[in-house]
Amino acid sequence: MATVLVTGCNRGIGLELCRQYLARGDDVIGVCRNSNAELIDLGIRVIDGVDVSTDDGVARMTTALADVAIDVVINNAGILRSDTLDTIDFDAMLEQYRINTIGPLRVILALRNNLGKGAKFGIVSSRVGSIEDNSSGNNYGYRCSKAAANMVGMNLRHDLAAEGVAVALLHPGLVATDMTGGRGVSTEKSAQGLIARMDELTMETSGSFWHAEGYPLPW
Ligand SMILES: NC(=O)c1ccc[n+]([C@@H]2O[C@H](COP(=O)([O-])OP(=O)(O)OC[C@H]3O[C@@H](n4cnc5c(N)ncnc54)[C@H](OP(=O)(O)O)[C@@H]3O)[C@@H](O)[C@H]2O)c1
Repeated sequence: MATVLVTGCNRGIGLELCRQYLARGDDVIGVCRNSNAELIDLGIRVIDGVDVSTDDGVARMTTALADVAIDVVINNAGILRSDTLDTIDFDAMLEQYRINTIGPLRVILALRNNLGKGAKFGIVSSRVGSIEDNSSGNNYGYRCSKAAANMVGMNLRHDLAAEGVAVALLHPGLVATDMTGGRGVSTEKSAQGLIARMDELTMETSGSFWHAEGYPLPW
């Protein structure tokens, strides 16, 4: 049994990750801004009031988890503010950067003392953050924030190696959630793949960018 922490746990992919880790017997800590009935019904430990884009938010999590050893952290919290070249909103770009890029960094720093040798950190990124894979344009804010999140993950791979913490960058697939207006594969299928990728993660594969379906993605 592992102790697993998931951010953005109140809906979408995060909620399903919690459900599946719990179903297989892991000890699950769900972290979110606002809890809800569906999350409470799972019966997991929930830490709410945690906005991953603020110091105060993540400090709440650090305080609540003092002395708790965590085996797996998945930073899943993220936002998409769609744009085109004609509709770019620079404030929205910065908002996405604060949540999608700096968010995972704030979370790992806040939980560093909870992670020991053998712990794993997964960042739910997106293949639209891949520069090589970009064949369609648009979504400047989201693409840039996820490309930079990939750099955060690769840097952490190096900087956390001495502490024995492995890092994975994960693309969940196109998944039917609020973010996509319900388009894509089920959260069940996506979470199953993401959990399998986290299970396979080792110090040797640390710093790789994986599709939930199990194949590597280009940077
Ligand atoms: N769905 C897809 O096809 C797809 C594809 C590629 C990557 N992803 C990535 O997968 C992750 C999960 O997405 P999803 O599809 O499940 O989206 P979602 O249904 O919109 O859920 C997003 C989650 O992130 C949380 N969140 C947003 N901003 C936050 C903040 N500042 N602090 C804490 N939590 C915050 C939300 O909480 P609130 O309820 O408080 O807003 C919610 O729990 C995201 O990182 C997304 O970029 C999704």
